[in-house]
Amino acid sequence: MQAHLTRRYRFSASHRLHSAELSEAENRATYGKCNNPYGHGHNYALEVTVSGPVDLATGMVCNLVDLDGFVEREVLARYNLENLNTRKEFSQIVPTTENLCMEIFEILQRGFKRAHLEKVRLEETMMNSFEYAGENELRT
Ligand code: NI
Repeated sequence: MQAHLTRRYRFSASHRLHSAELSEAENRATYGKCNNPYGHGHNYALEVTVSGPVDLATGMVCNLVDLDGFVEREVLARYNLENLNTRKEFSQIVPTTENLCMEIFEILQRGFKRAHLEKVRLEETMMNSFEYAGENELRT
């Protein structure tokens, strides 16, 4: 029996949306107040969805201790209370929440082997959120 498990986490980080590919005026026009030089912060909500068979012995898709430990070490410890613009993974790409969502998916995809990673959903505000399920996922 295949089942999905979604777990929710919280972290806070700051960013400034600014592209080296664009002029100052184009940056202001593209990102508006998110381009202000001092940056701004978000309280992100992160949802990680994994899937797999329900283990007969434990009755679980995936041990939450394993998932929480991995997310804590590899994602929350990396980004919580950080300025995303100073991270090397965002030295060449703009730390939009789209790109952060994809980056978190890649971190989990590379390192978390205890269950199949389905998708990552990242809420930036009450009004917007982003989802990423990898390049090669078949969507239903
Ligand atoms: Ni922002």
